[in-house]
Amino acid sequence: MRTIVAGNWKMNTDRASAAALISALVKSAGSIADGVQVIIAPPFPFLSMAVEQCAGTRIMVAAQNCHQAEKGAYTGEVSASMLKSIGVQACIVGHSERRQYFSESDALIGEKTAALLAQGLIPIFCCGEKKEDRESGRHYDVVTEQMKGALGRFTNPELERIILAYEPVWAIGTGLTASKEQAQDMHAHMRSLLHMHGPSVAERVPILYGGSCNPSNAESLFGQHDVNGGLIGGASLLAEQFLELVRIAGMKQ
Ligand code: 13P
Repeated sequence: MRTIVAGNWKMNTDRASAAALISALVKSAGSIADGVQVIIAPPFPFLSMAVEQCAGTRIMVAAQNCHQAEKGAYTGEVSASMLKSIGVQACIVGHSERRQYFSESDALIGEKTAALLAQGLIPIFCCGEKKEDRESGRHYDVVTEQMKGALGRFTNPELERIILAYEPVWAIGTGLTASKEQAQDMHAHMRSLLHMHGPSVAERVPILYGGSCNPSNAESLFGQHDVNGGLIGGASLLAEQFLELVRIAGMKQ
């Protein structure tokens, strides 16, 4: 199984700083270990530039969101087909910030995932429990509901094209990280849900960890059996830290 390091830039950078960050990553792209997949998800306005700068390298460009419809009167929205037309290859869906601030439901996230799959793009599907869910012992139920609610409709070949990311909400941007045991236990649970669709789905779908992942904790997190890399927020905005995470991912190969 490949190891993936994906950077979710969120609503950060401007044109100049985005270009500089991508340049720094591209300069080191030659040293990405075999079996490591690097993905960056800059904001919409910088996606075309990112695709151009990353052309011919092993860095894949992803968007952070898309609309579920192919086109139409949805002012301000961006479709999966538009993303595809500019060379974007993947897109994050179901991030907790979109669930929380934009009221995205499991059903809507399922529709967005379907729109991406229909265009041949790779959905990076996020799920994860809130602090109160973990404290009340409901964390496995919450993640099960999120996965079943959004992904239950897909065929095995479709599921095999998805990347999953477990992002406990209490760990995002807080400096609190899931322990390696907490991450492994939840990833194993997610893997067992995939297994219900068949062994090939469980074997092929990477499950990334996200939430205050940085060079000081990545080695122990990425070292877990069912952790296939990371979805990185804050540390993906600093070329040196992100490249260090890419190097650590190479140690798993
Ligand atoms: P941080 O790495 O900043 O905690 O963010 C994680 C995240 O939300 C990635 O999608």
